[in-house]
Amino acid sequence: MIGRINHIAIAVPDLDAAIERYRSGLGATVSAPQDLPEHGVRVVFVELENSKVELLLPLGENSPIVGFLAKNPDGGMHHICFEVADIKAARDRLTASGARVLGDGSPKIGAHGKPVLFLHPKDFSGTLIELEQV
Ligand code: CO
Repeated sequence: MIGRINHIAIAVPDLDAAIERYRSGLGATVSAPQDLPEHGVRVVFVELENSKVELLLPLGENSPIVGFLAKNPDGGMHHICFEVADIKAARDRLTASGARVLGDGSPKIGAHGKPVLFLHPKDFSGTLIELEQV
């Protein structure tokens, strides 16, 4: 059921500084910033040969990233995104196995214009998991 890693997301307190570190320090290609108000985040993607790193900055006061950065002022790894072929089938299989889906359980459109879901970190060894249908 599970496919490749689509991206690893890192919450950052200073997006420009993080972009500069990846561009100048690591020689990476970084996408233009994109605002996702429904998810409460501004994102850029660091393009890698085999995957992507998503840099996340809070957008709006109710952003889920605000609390995360309060606990991790230097930033930190926020979630891992796995690709799945059929997100509703994946959700149904996971919930049948006892895993919890965040929110109302219905997929939302993510940064790549594709359906995404988030799974409770307590069910995945303390790591927030995103599923993206590709
Ligand atoms: Co993500």
